[in-house]
Amino acid sequence: MTYNITLLPGDGIGPEVASAGVKVMKYVAEKFKVAIETQEKLIGGCSYEKFGSPLTDETLQACYDSDAVLLGAVGGYQWENLPHHLKPEAALLKLRKSLGLFANIRPAKVYPAFVNSSSLKSSVISGTDFVVFRELIGGIYFGEPRGFDENKGWNTMVYSKEEVERIAHMAFKTAMSRKGVLTSIDKANVLEVSQFWRNVVEEVSKDYPSVKLKHMYVDNAAMQIVRDPRQFDVIVTGNIFGDILSDISGMITGSLGMLPSASLGSRYALYEPIHGSAPDIAGQNKANPIATISSVAMMFEHSFGMNKAAELIEASIEKTLSQGFRTADIASDSDKVLNTNEMTEQIMKNFDEVYNTEALGVFTL
Ligand code: IPM
Ligand code: MN
Repeated sequence: MTYNITLLPGDGIGPEVASAGVKVMKYVAEKFKVAIETQEKLIGGCSYEKFGSPLTDETLQACYDSDAVLLGAVGGYQWENLPHHLKPEAALLKLRKSLGLFANIRPAKVYPAFVNSSSLKSSVISGTDFVVFRELIGGIYFGEPRGFDENKGWNTMVYSKEEVERIAHMAFKTAMSRKGVLTSIDKANVLEVSQFWRNVVEEVSKDYPSVKLKHMYVDNAAMQIVRDPRQFDVIVTGNIFGDILSDISGMITGSLGMLPSASLGSRYALYEPIHGSAPDIAGQNKANPIATISSVAMMFEHSFGMNKAAELIEASIEKTLSQGFRTADIASDSDKVLNTNEMTEQIMKNFDEVYNTEALGVFTL
């Protein structure tokens, strides 16, 4: 089996973390005897500099031709004042839309080694483990009409039945494989589009009788996530509510810089760290590669169906953290501070160990 992966390193620390991700990806693939072919393309500010566009047809075509895409990060100060459609962020939105990536999955899991790094008390967050399913190519981000003139600005929040159904199915299926609780978040007390969202989710829930479905208004949800995050298992919500809530959810874990994400559609998939391009530390071999390596774990799970490989990558990250290894962004005085390459090597070393232990377990059974 050969998988074709398009690499989009992007801007800032993107290239460094992407190359860390690729190293781990290839290493793990070899252990599990699958072949990986990669091809690299430009996206974001670097693409704008070279071609005058943050996302070219060539890059897009490479993504269409691949089994999965791994993205580093896009953006930087020098492109902040470009018109909207030329900004690095526009490339991301176009990529999501063109590849039909309707579901953005962002886990919010508190690593035991980080339980004291959150801005919330450890007694509130320890054991938190939920996942946000954010609808990614509809809602107010893409609705028409949109625009502004001298006197007003306007956007449109609109969802079709099919758009709500497909992400709801995905979220229900995930809830079934977890603790069986799905919270759908909307603003149905004010917005018709949200009442519609709620009705469709209710309808879809009939296919999943074993899942407990709850509805929550988005303002209350923002409060509940910081009050008692352990009540959540799977969250499903629209594009803009998901944008906001996934930042809150990431932050409470105390490790925003370590969180992965997957954006899935019915044919394509894109994996990227949640953090940005951090231009201030770009090129210094300082960046934390963990979010990207964890995104690679999600690739093994969702694109290759190799759940064991994904689990072992996660286990090697946890082991590395529990050994006290940190990159500068997450280090305190007593920690062993590693650079990007060293952290990647340490995770691969631990991967070997967890892999061998696992193989031994199978052998002795
Ligand atoms: C995200 C980002 C993007 C979004 C921006 C950069 C367009 O905030 O991935 O959450 O709003 O979707
Ligand atoms: Mn966001």
